[in-house]
Amino acid sequence: MKKVLVTRAVPEMALGVLKNVVKSVANIEIDHNYIPDSREEFLKEVRDTHGLLVNPLNVIDSAIINAAEKLEVVSIIGVGFENIDVKAASKKKIPVAFTPILQKAVAELTFALILTLSRGITSADIYVRSGEWKEPIPIIELGTDLSGKTLGIVGLGRIGSEVAKRAKCFEMNIIYYDIERDYKKEEELGARYVSLDELLSSSDFVSLHAPLTPQTRHMIGKKELEKMKPTAYIINTSRGQILDQRALYQALVNKKIKGAGLDVFEEEPVSIDEPLLKLKNVVFTPHLGSATTENRMNMFLTAAQNLGQALGGQEPKYQINPKAV
Ligand code: DGY
Repeated sequence: MKKVLVTRAVPEMALGVLKNVVKSVANIEIDHNYIPDSREEFLKEVRDTHGLLVNPLNVIDSAIINAAEKLEVVSIIGVGFENIDVKAASKKKIPVAFTPILQKAVAELTFALILTLSRGITSADIYVRSGEWKEPIPIIELGTDLSGKTLGIVGLGRIGSEVAKRAKCFEMNIIYYDIERDYKKEEELGARYVSLDELLSSSDFVSLHAPLTPQTRHMIGKKELEKMKPTAYIINTSRGQILDQRALYQALVNKKIKGAGLDVFEEEPVSIDEPLLKLKNVVFTPHLGSATTENRMNMFLTAAQNLGQALGGQEPKYQINPKAV
């Protein structure tokens, strides 16, 4: 009997799919929605575990991987994997798989934040609900066009590229910065490569789509925010730690930039005492990038397939460390 721990609440429907997908590998006991009480307990529990189906935010470090003597696969329900020690897994020839299929959902949320900011949807909603709308033509701050404006994409990977496709439909000028220049994508998407400095100083909207690595942690801080236009907005649907939250607060309060749209935070869930929550020119969502019914079902299904494939002795379709295994 093989044992699989699922450290995330999986909807009933997806659990059915999960069971079906892995049933080809006979005798699997699935501990679903397993939330360990302590790290010690988790370390003990993984000892006889064959498969882990986890969140990108669960910490699966080398101690966990080494304690899991029977581990055959780590399957992440998500695309970021900064909390998983892939090196430690590769050393033990354990495949680590992920679900790089959520880019459209994240790009849509990115645009939802851009539009909420550019058209002042949050305050407009309050204005209507509170009965403040007294004149036929409402007395309310005007929004700003997207058409003709410049969108600066930091990281033109899977998600950044989907954001660029949508920006094209809104007739925006697209510039991007990445550690690697991609000529093919530039042509396909009509995006122009620029330095990070140029991107910051010439964008009307800056959208962050870099993975979290030691190099990208706080890559946008005080110095970078000060390079932005006072009329510009910054949107973060990647990882909270890429944007220095304290520096962002200061930039907003000191009117160095106009506003921000945040789906991710340095600490999640964000504390109610976070000073940013008091600011009106910031729009928040609680890490909802991948959160559509269709996309989440696809993610669960893909992660379950990856898991089933590895437990059945095959290479998972979306493996992060194929060469090491
Ligand atoms: C991911 O998969 O990285 C998304 O941010 C969801 O956590």
